[in-house]
Amino acid sequence: MTNDAAAATEHRAYPGFRWMRRWLFRLDPEVAHDRIVRLLNLVFQLPPLTWLLSIVFARRQPQLKQEYLNLNFPTPIGLAAGFDKNGQLVRGLHALGFGFCEVGTVTLRPQSGNPQPRLWRLAEEGALINNMGFNNDGAAVIAARLAKIKQHPIPIGVNIGKNRDTPLIEAAAEYKEVLKIVYSVGDYFVVNVSSPNTPQLRELQKPNYLRELLGGLVEQGKRLALQQNSPVKPILVKLAPELDEAELKAVVAILREEGVSGVIACNTLKHTQGGTSGRPLLPYTVKMVQRLRQLLGGDFLIIAVGGILSPADVWQLFRAGANLVQVYTGLVYRGPRLPVEIQRFLLNQLRQVDAPTLQEYLSMLR
Ligand SMILES: Cc1cc2nc3c(=O)[nH]c(=O)nc-3n(C[C@H](O)[C@H](O)[C@H](O)COP(=O)(O)O)c2cc1C
Repeated sequence: MTNDAAAATEHRAYPGFRWMRRWLFRLDPEVAHDRIVRLLNLVFQLPPLTWLLSIVFARRQPQLKQEYLNLNFPTPIGLAAGFDKNGQLVRGLHALGFGFCEVGTVTLRPQSGNPQPRLWRLAEEGALINNMGFNNDGAAVIAARLAKIKQHPIPIGVNIGKNRDTPLIEAAAEYKEVLKIVYSVGDYFVVNVSSPNTPQLRELQKPNYLRELLGGLVEQGKRLALQQNSPVKPILVKLAPELDEAELKAVVAILREEGVSGVIACNTLKHTQGGTSGRPLLPYTVKMVQRLRQLLGGDFLIIAVGGILSPADVWQLFRAGANLVQVYTGLVYRGPRLPVEIQRFLLNQLRQVDAPTLQEYLSMLR
């Protein structure tokens, strides 16, 4: 197969999703997304249908189960932030083979995001460009929605950010306020300082801002855990793919100093119209994960996201240093079977390298 042919295959829908993708791709991308979220939300409210989905999609594969930060991940594939911005899908995502999900980005006050149109497909490249700008229902509404879900079959992350009109000097206080509102309903939290679609947000990756922000959030987390009589929950940070070597080193030093539990690499690539996700991002993700693993050592949790369109991409990211992965754009192009196809591929790879479990294999690599 030529490289072009291989790339085209990687962007193609899995059987069973082809007709649906054809229909969805005739719609405006944001309309298509909203319809899918509404449909899944409906399905997940009907336990027999969710159960049926789990029969088709989610076979338990004990070899792929992992434990990090006292959380159990039944599969290593998570739903990336931005797909379920308002926490409407967490109830049923396990039935599609996801091992964890990340809600948000959640801001203190509800906001409608940037003007539409703000989402575009680049089908030939297996990419999307988005300029959503943290459209979400706001922390209080989302926390109330998540509080109704009594059992979490998979860990729920809450990704937090700041409102567009909040000045940078007030950002640290606002993130703390958001953390307070969502603390009881999440299993882990992600500090988003890397979306390109909120003006100046990425400035928060600079050492002075980042130290204050992360230090304050880690302290706030400890206080909240004490008040709520719960264990202290992990706080992770999500980074931009464009950080250079010096910036990455500075960030890594702060992660260690402030007691951050893990890192998510990476957010979308800055583009004139917003941020690019999907295939063009993969080389950046691989490089960043490799470098982070070298800088952070073997034990630090690294979640890789960006450009996963095929199961082989996941294996490549594991070998580069990731512990877990997340997908977004790959689902748009390939469909809901992607997590299951990834699981099947991983089981096969584990057999080939003669490793009993994924966690053992990954710890052997480090
Ligand atoms: C439409 C859209 C909205 C997104 N919204 C968010 C968001 O609110 N917060 C965030 O941290 N990342 C957001 N992302 C970034 C994804 O979580 C992910 O980091 C990025 O898309 C790369 O992964 P992918 O190539 O698998 O899509 C968004 C991505 C897309 C395509």
